Amino acid sequence: MRLEVFRRLYVLRIFNCFPLCYLLYFLLFLALVLGACTQQEAKMGEQLKQVAKQTLAEQQIAQFDLEFLLGGEHGLEAEEVLVKYDHTLKHEQNYLAYPFSKVFDYLLASGDYDWITSSDPSKILITYKCVDGYNASTTLDKALSQESYIAFTDLTSESEAWTGRMASKMPPFYLVWEEVPYDDHSLLWPYGLSNLTLTPYEAAYATIMPKENLEGFKLYETHCLKCHSLNKVGGVMGPEFNYPRNILSYWEADNMWAFLNDPKSFRYNSKMPAITYLERAQFDEIVKYLKELDQMPRDPS
Ligand code: HEC
Repeated sequence: MRLEVFRRLYVLRIFNCFPLCYLLYFLLFLALVLGACTQQEAKMGEQLKQVAKQTLAEQQIAQFDLEFLLGGEHGLEAEEVLVKYDHTLKHEQNYLAYPFSKVFDYLLASGDYDWITSSDPSKILITYKCVDGYNASTTLDKALSQESYIAFTDLTSESEAWTGRMASKMPPFYLVWEEVPYDDHSLLWPYGLSNLTLTPYEAAYATIMPKENLEGFKLYETHCLKCHSLNKVGGVMGPEFNYPRNILSYWEADNMWAFLNDPKSFRYNSKMPAITYLERAQFDEIVKYLKELDQMPRDPS
């Protein structure tokens, strides 16, 4: 009975406003199709984004432009830091800086970096890239072993961001550590710091990792690689030492040792800082490693 009434009403409506009804049906249909389309589009956009993120994560390279990321809004609070012994300036110095651990958390929050957060930090290589070609790397556990600071102003002068003889070399950033003894050379103090790159250790050093002379490799990595690349891996402040020719094929080890300790005794205007803290036995390990590298395939990608 009720159904009968309903049907009559329905039919009546259709007949009473015949054209309007079709228009309404048509609009409803259009809305449904459009809705489905935009949903599909959003889904595809999301899928594309996922693929892009996945590819980056699969390549496992995270690159951060510090000037860009710290130049805008970020909510990080700058702190005054007293550096007891600045390893570049060789004296005490005050800076305005961001704590590195906070910057690091901020950077990781900006994307999909599960492969970093879920890895053993000693297996991740962090590279500090500087505007002058200095390109120093260390493992993430070392970089986070004590608090470092990304300094952007030294507090010696009120009017200028950077003062003193290094003023032009410090910007945009300078990485400092609060309390590192003068004879501890294991931590990096990159100035002119502009970029950070993170990548798995094994992948980064695939073409220069020795089979035998690991000790020599470690020493080279700590003391030379930041300026002297091997197979194009490492810094470019000094000359490359293996590609296309290995340095030991045209420099004698004894001369290298003498140069290392006193570059200006070879060239009055040498740009290489004297490195006097290595033992001869340590240098010999480096030489062994470089000889092994000479026998390995050269594969600079
Ligand atoms: C801070 C950067 C820096 C570091 C670290 C560094 N060097 Fe150098 N080195 C240079 C520069 C720059 C030159 C370019 C030549 C010059 O200015 O005399 C150079 C040149 C050399 C040369 C002369 C090569 C040539 O063909 O002219 C040797 C040998 C050398 N370095 C060995 C080493 C060794 C071994 C280590 C590590 C124990 C090392 N250097 C660490 C910057 C560096």
